[in-house]
Amino acid sequence: MTLSFQKKLIKKATKWLTAVATLATAQIVAELLVKAIMVAVQGGHLSYLRYRNEYLKRLSAEYDITFENLEKVAAKIEDECVPWVKAARMRPLIVKLGGSVITDKRGRFSVKLSSLRRLARELKAADGPLVVVHGGGSYGHPIASKFEIARGFKNEEQLMGFSLTHRAMEELNTHVIEALQRAGLPAIAIQPSACSVVSDGRIVRMELAPLHKFLELGIVPVTYGDVVPDLSRGMSILSGDQLVVYLARELGASRVILGADVDGVFTADPKLRSREKLIRVITPSSWRDVVKSIGVASGPDVTGGMAKKVEELLILAESGIEAEIVNAAKADTLKRAILGERGLGTKIMAG
Ligand code: IPE
Repeated sequence: MTLSFQKKLIKKATKWLTAVATLATAQIVAELLVKAIMVAVQGGHLSYLRYRNEYLKRLSAEYDITFENLEKVAAKIEDECVPWVKAARMRPLIVKLGGSVITDKRGRFSVKLSSLRRLARELKAADGPLVVVHGGGSYGHPIASKFEIARGFKNEEQLMGFSLTHRAMEELNTHVIEALQRAGLPAIAIQPSACSVVSDGRIVRMELAPLHKFLELGIVPVTYGDVVPDLSRGMSILSGDQLVVYLARELGASRVILGADVDGVFTADPKLRSREKLIRVITPSSWRDVVKSIGVASGPDVTGGMAKKVEELLILAESGIEAEIVNAAKADTLKRAILGERGLGTKIMAG
């Protein structure tokens, strides 16, 4: 190797290394910015670390982070992270209106308008940020069950079933939004099938930036159990309960209230149903005994009924977020729970 060739090589390598070092430094500066902005405002939020790492990954995939565009990147970080951290600091209340409370599950497409309007007025009692989730009841379950959407994509007929189930859910959602608006709540629909990535029936991620901004503005996001494209099964049903749990963790909810048409979870001796008893508290450790004696839902339920509901909520308990199932069919119960009363139904909490 001649000396001049060696020199040329060193010069080239130095140039490359400097370029790489500059790039790396710009990335590090960007990462530090993300961390600084988030640490400054996150306030001990549960999913902060995960969100931060996911955000950084996305940022470097989307952007060529160099010193030249660092200012632009910093503005983007502020635009996207600040609403998130503000929303996280708000610790919203998440309320689910079960399908059995707002629809007649024994019929088809039968909305209980007067109950829905009463519940909307009760929701008005929330004095902080609020997210509403509703179930499918007689709108979602019968069609989803007919086309066996929950089993995943098996045949072409299911495509129309998927479309019809979604349309039915949108119809029910329109009733919910209307009722909330009548009660004076600025509600807006969030369509899960358009913003969730689901695999094997479980949410992998969801685009939450608009939701953060809505909460920051004081708008009430309303989302619902829906049919969703599924990366592994082709299609599946995303239950309102799974959504509640996902959102509660991602948004660092202050509390979760599930409005059902029963007082909570009951033990039911199958031979002596009259002796069934309301269970006041369920913890991950008491669950194994409780599950054997839980009652079954009436009407078709493609998302698993009460047992599945509690199982979802136990995931939340593990994150330290308390949930309570209350009887929203009884006037003022939901309102009392929203105003902070505890012990009205079954609490699901870490034990
Ligand atoms: C079901 O949602 C949605 C569809 C069937 C499309 P949920 O499972 O949350 O509904 P409910 O509360 O049990 O009715």
